[in-house]
Amino acid sequence: MKIGTVNINKKAVLAPMAGVTDRAFRELCMKFGAGYTVSEMVSSKGISYLNKKSIELMEISEKERPCGIQLFGDNPEAMATAAKIALEQNPDIIDINMGCPAPKVNKSGGGAVLMKNPDLCYKIVKAVKDTSTVPVTVKIRKGWDEQSINAVEIAKVCESAGASAITVHGRTREQMYKPFVDLKVIEQVKLAVSIPVIGNGDIFSPKDAINMLSQTGCDLVMIGRGALGNPFIFSEINAVLNNETFAEPKIEEKVAVMTEHILNICKYKGEYLGMKEARRHICMYLKGIPDAASFRNQACHLETMDQFLDFANKITKIV
Ligand SMILES: Cc1cc2nc3c(=O)[nH]c(=O)nc-3n(C[C@H](O)[C@H](O)[C@H](O)COP(=O)(O)O)c2cc1C
Repeated sequence: MKIGTVNINKKAVLAPMAGVTDRAFRELCMKFGAGYTVSEMVSSKGISYLNKKSIELMEISEKERPCGIQLFGDNPEAMATAAKIALEQNPDIIDINMGCPAPKVNKSGGGAVLMKNPDLCYKIVKAVKDTSTVPVTVKIRKGWDEQSINAVEIAKVCESAGASAITVHGRTREQMYKPFVDLKVIEQVKLAVSIPVIGNGDIFSPKDAINMLSQTGCDLVMIGRGALGNPFIFSEINAVLNNETFAEPKIEEKVAVMTEHILNICKYKGEYLGMKEARRHICMYLKGIPDAASFRNQACHLETMDQFLDFANKITKIV
């Protein structure tokens, strides 16, 4: 299928996750068969000030295409300017965040709070679309709260402003990450628009992905937390969709993939920052291994790549 002019060859894609979906993780998920990936959200204000961190967040390598850059903000002109600067990094897609529930982001006018103002949503998408040379997508939620469920209205508004696809996380902003995602609202959006719809929320296994695809009719599924410490989920979903069998990764394989991931974080960010950021990923890879609590505790104190390599070696020996 296509998002605008971009070919997407796999059904499961990686969700944007601040603090998680950096270049190292995106490359790994593509290697395991993600259809595309999206950067961490980047502030349009930060970009317009040419803030170093914001620019770094947008760097994309050839190994991770197709890849989108996600922008957040509430000012159409500022978002268009940010998109122009983002385009210098050659993203395949520009994604607009209309779903982030974080109070800090919502207070600044960005993220899910935009869904309260359909006119502004239109203006933002239109302004970015008019500037962009690549397809523009939008990520929304079910609505702000149970009293204002308007995913269908916002999806239509975004489509009329020129969006090439809509991702729907089937929960309101008020619900944050619980209870279970509402598949019905994703189905309603799919029936209401002609552009591709990407269903998102609570996919932790191939079964969950198949369920989302069949119950909502969505074109793609987007996976966030289910990929943490588990990039294997993409190849597992692809196997099931191709009627193939798959084996759960053995601990040795998990450790090998974790090692590749952590060494790449350090390669791209330097050992000091890299190891700081690596700890949360390491803890996620440890899920399900014997004595995980003790290993997690040790992981929180790792400071150098050598310490990490010893630690990884220890896991493979003990298990
Ligand atoms: C740690 C974390 C960071 C996130 N950061 C972003 C973000 O930058 N942009 C965004 O649109 N959504 C963000 N999300 C939301 C996810 O993209 C996704 O919509 C949500 O986690 C539901 O999907 P899941 O059940 O597969 O995790 C984040 C979620 C998590 C857990």
